[in-house]
Amino acid sequence: MIFFFFFFQFPACACCTTGVPVRLFFSENLQGANFTLTKNLETGSILVYRCPEGYYPYPERTRFCQRNGSWRPRPKKFPPQKCKLVECPDPNVLENGNVSPPQEKYFVDNETTYECYSGYKMRGSARRVCLKNGKWSGSTPICSRDCKPGQESSEKYSKYNVTSKETNTTDIRYTSEHKCKLYTITDYYKNKYTFDTPMEISKAFGSSIKETLTTLESTDDIQGERRIRISKNGTLNIYIGVDISESINEDYVNKSRDIVTKLITKISSFSVTPNYEIIFFSSELYEIVNIIDFLDGNAKLQDVKSKLEEFVVDRNTGTNLNIVFKKFLEKMSFIKEQTGEEGFKEHRHAIIVFTDGAYNMGGSPAPTVAQIKNMVYMNEAKAREDYLDIYIFAVGDEIFDEDLMPLTAGTGEHHYFRVKELEKLEETFDEMIDEDEVKGLCGLYKEYKEPRKEQKRKMFPWMAFVYTQGVGDPKKCMGSLVTPEFVLTAAHCVHGYLPENVIVEIDDERGKFKKAKTLIFHSNYSVTAKKHKGINEFYDYDVALIQLDEYVQISSDVRPICIPCTLETSAALHLVDETCESQEKLLLKNHLERLSFLTRTKNVVDIKDVHAKLGDNRYECIRQAVGVEGITQETLTEAVTDNFICTGGREPFRDHIACTGDSGGAVFKNFEYRTVQVALVSWGSINVCKDGGVRESTKTSRDFHINLFRVVPFLKNVLGKKDQDYEPLVFLEN
Ligand SMILES: *[C@@H]1O[C@H](CO)[C@@H](O)[C@H](O)[C@H]1NC(C)=O
Ligand SMILES: *[C@@H]1O[C@H](CO)[C@@H](O)[C@H](O)[C@H]1NC(C)=O
Ligand SMILES: *[C@@H]1O[C@H](CO)[C@@H](O)[C@H](O)[C@H]1NC(C)=O
Ligand SMILES: *[C@@H]1O[C@H](CO)[C@@H](O)[C@H](O)[C@H]1NC(C)=O
Ligand SMILES: *[C@@H]1O[C@H](CO)[C@@H](O)[C@H](O)[C@H]1NC(C)=O
Ligand SMILES: *[C@@H]1O[C@H](CO)[C@@H](O)[C@H](O)[C@H]1NC(C)=O
Ligand SMILES: *[C@@H]1O[C@H](CO)[C@@H](O)[C@H](O)[C@H]1NC(C)=O
Ligand SMILES: *[C@@H]1O[C@H](CO)[C@@H](O)[C@H](O)[C@H]1NC(C)=O
Repeated sequence: MIFFFFFFQFPACACCTTGVPVRLFFSENLQGANFTLTKNLETGSILVYRCPEGYYPYPERTRFCQRNGSWRPRPKKFPPQKCKLVECPDPNVLENGNVSPPQEKYFVDNETTYECYSGYKMRGSARRVCLKNGKWSGSTPICSRDCKPGQESSEKYSKYNVTSKETNTTDIRYTSEHKCKLYTITDYYKNKYTFDTPMEISKAFGSSIKETLTTLESTDDIQGERRIRISKNGTLNIYIGVDISESINEDYVNKSRDIVTKLITKISSFSVTPNYEIIFFSSELYEIVNIIDFLDGNAKLQDVKSKLEEFVVDRNTGTNLNIVFKKFLEKMSFIKEQTGEEGFKEHRHAIIVFTDGAYNMGGSPAPTVAQIKNMVYMNEAKAREDYLDIYIFAVGDEIFDEDLMPLTAGTGEHHYFRVKELEKLEETFDEMIDEDEVKGLCGLYKEYKEPRKEQKRKMFPWMAFVYTQGVGDPKKCMGSLVTPEFVLTAAHCVHGYLPENVIVEIDDERGKFKKAKTLIFHSNYSVTAKKHKGINEFYDYDVALIQLDEYVQISSDVRPICIPCTLETSAALHLVDETCESQEKLLLKNHLERLSFLTRTKNVVDIKDVHAKLGDNRYECIRQAVGVEGITQETLTEAVTDNFICTGGREPFRDHIACTGDSGGAVFKNFEYRTVQVALVSWGSINVCKDGGVRESTKTSRDFHINLFRVVPFLKNVLGKKDQDYEPLVFLEN
């Protein structure tokens, strides 16, 4: 009898026959020691060992199920698989100084102190603790001579070897220094289990990327703070490559997508508009965003986000790291061709790649990276070094540092990161820019999915509470910080009071309550102005500025909101056309524009969502004011002038409604991590909620907000005034 084998297939469940042999397990019973299988017991499944914090799997971190059912590497009796206590690198490499206590090995929580020989000066931390991620706390101590802070150093960027007698290995360390005071050394990832904490990444990557994105300059402003003014000259091109090959675990694609989205949103909060190339890759390339579309002016940030959202892929095996760099090189060549040699000189390039470096096809990307450098440096490596940054985020259970580290480039401190948990990276990017250093950016805020009480200030760093006391009924209102010294609120909140009867609550480092120095009202504000026409209370121009007794301390908790028709707001909105009109067109473009305002609650504040009824929808909205305070059909447009924005009602959306205490608050819109105030809560047709809180509108209740675009002359007259003892805001000419 003849058997025909039409096909022969390896069993899908190769390792089922052998199962998980006892030797694959941990030899000891440590709480939290465990393993996961990426594809159960199928061929190609990866067994990943997990150890509790402060421990690492030894001798193997992963094992691979082979086609014939055996595991690679093969589990052995000796040494048995276990969780070992994390060690930190030998600190005895300190030159010109002493380390104590001298030990053969240093484990988690072990402490070391450092001392320099006489004549040498210590830079870095004199006391360090071995952390759970296998790194020493603080910064590497260095004992050096003749390096006075601020002095120019001969070496700007260098690489040197440190030989360890103990392990007979040589570590490569990277130094980066412009001036002596900035002297830092990055610890090399000596042990396989060493990783960077989200905090470390956000600090190091944040400061590097910020150098790429912005110019920090000292200005002669009164407060002497460093402010970010403008983005650097020229065009910024950002190339992002994400490895989605099978060597990296399961729902990686989804997470990377979120991370890339977060990263580009965060970058755009810096008033820069880079061109993006975004590629996901395995053995093939998936080009999600083509940088050429940006050059042609055909792509917008919003398109990038939706393209990322739509991206799905049947993952395939293999990693070709070289093709992604080749693609980036190809795009650069194209840009160079289009812009010409001189034009290309004005282009900066930042490459950001997420990978484990386990490429198995396409060969090493190193030669391609060399070509990229050649192209950007244009034979002036020293002068043009800061036109190219290559960042590598090493992600995965097995990372190939030796291949990846040499691919980095740039002048910043740190371009290589080992990431343990991808989940944390999203948050890391959110935290990455130290907003305390970024003074000049109005409306910059942080986002939290489920904010805790103490995070509310970071979400709404401009929020202010306005109280009156001493005379009449005490009043509670809201306000918004518009410069370090001025709070915008409704005139009716503070009218009739003296500055000493007004208190503003903004919790900065100096304390919670601020005194008012002066109260400035719109000259046309007069509640009784139209009494003769039967309108008992008239609230047009219901705006006031409170000048504080002293300016507030700007930080990520306390920062002014962007207001209409300023230069900063144009930058925040990425408007090339710097006019007031284009801002208004962008912010109030839809006939039902979604806006928000805050209300005081037990959770500090909560958001109310409303829809401004503009254009054809407006009349139907304001009509509900008839009957309020003597307003008739005839006097309706007299009372509710064009300066009011109307919200509320249940059609076509159920809006929230303003409650007692919401007056004076900012009606705002968020735009790529920047908040712009477009209006101010003034009055409502019905008092639905005397107790405050988040409430839905009834069918007929309506709120009327002062449109800030209509009171720009007032704002400009105060906030844009020169020769005052505060720094003026720059208002647009038209
Ligand atoms: C190991 O992890 C699995 C899945 O996460 C869990 O169900 C199991 O209880 C864990 N075992 C131990 C000993 O922690
Ligand atoms: C299974 O295959 C690997 C390589 O493909 C080989 O090294 C190993 O000896 C094989 N094991 C068995 C039990 O056949
Ligand atoms: C260092 O850590 C190890 C492991 O926890 C511990 O046994 C040892 O006593 C520590 N050494 C010092 C000097 O604290
Ligand atoms: C460091 O050591 C490697 C390998 O021994 C060598 O190739 C390299 O040139 C050394 N680098 C420096 C800066 O000494
Ligand atoms: C260190 O490595 C070198 C070269 O591989 C070898 O000759 C030497 O014996 C090693 N030293 C120790 C202490 O293992
Ligand atoms: C940046 O551009 C401005 C105007 O285009 C120019 O005056 C300035 O010198 C440029 N700065 C640098 C560093 O090239
Ligand atoms: C990944 O995202 C897609 C689309 O958003 C979704 O359908 C899918 O369930 C997600 N997968 C995982 C593993 O979360
Ligand atoms: C204030 O009111 C007067 C008279 O009603 C009007 O002419 C003027 O334009 C108003 N000023 C502003 C800034 O709207």
